[in-house]
Amino acid sequence: MRIRKLEKKDAPEVQKLIMKGFMKFVAPTLKKGGVEEFSKYNNLEKLYERLEDPERILYIAEEKYKIIGYIEARNFHMSLFFVDEKWMKKGIGKQLYKKVETIIKQKGYKYIKVNSALSAIPVYTKFGFKKITGIQEKNGVVYQPMRKYLT
Ligand SMILES: CC(C)(COP(=O)(O)OP(=O)(O)OC[C@H]1O[C@@H](n2cnc3c(N)ncnc32)[C@H](O)[C@@H]1OP(=O)(O)O)[C@@H](O)C(=O)NCCC(=O)NCCS
Repeated sequence: MRIRKLEKKDAPEVQKLIMKGFMKFVAPTLKKGGVEEFSKYNNLEKLYERLEDPERILYIAEEKYKIIGYIEARNFHMSLFFVDEKWMKKGIGKQLYKKVETIIKQKGYKYIKVNSALSAIPVYTKFGFKKITGIQEKNGVVYQPMRKYLT
């Protein structure tokens, strides 16, 4: 398994991975309209746009030329984080996260923020994130704001 930067040619496969994980693990935790709201900002066209943003940190985990994990951040804000179901709980998410944490630290930020899907709260907690507020909802998207101070 190797971790590398997302390239343009990977975008369709990554978009599939995101939507598969989202529909199975995140969508059931959302309220009415949440899937549509998420899909407005997370489609292939938007992914191509984000690839052009120099502030974006976009990494994949790859095994034998198959993409099995994805993580994304901008400045000190993490956003998308998915590992293929068959590969979960094998430490791949942790390796992806560590890559992004190192980059954010190198940029001089003091903390990392994430609006965690309810399904990922235990994982972010393991990484050292703490809840900042209660659970929030916006246009059907339900999330837990969390933050980790970098030392
Ligand atoms: C969140 C996700 C990317 C983590 O990837 P992963 O490869 O399974 O994570 P890892 O195997 O590296 O696990 C990291 C730590 O979290 C723990 N963990 C993983 N899944 C867990 C779960 N469902 N419940 C509790 N702890 C969990 C692991 O035991 C590990 O702890 P350790 O370091 O003490 O051993 C993956 O579970 C996923 O795609 N989830 C569904 C989509 C989702 O919710 N994404 C987040 C959107 S914000």
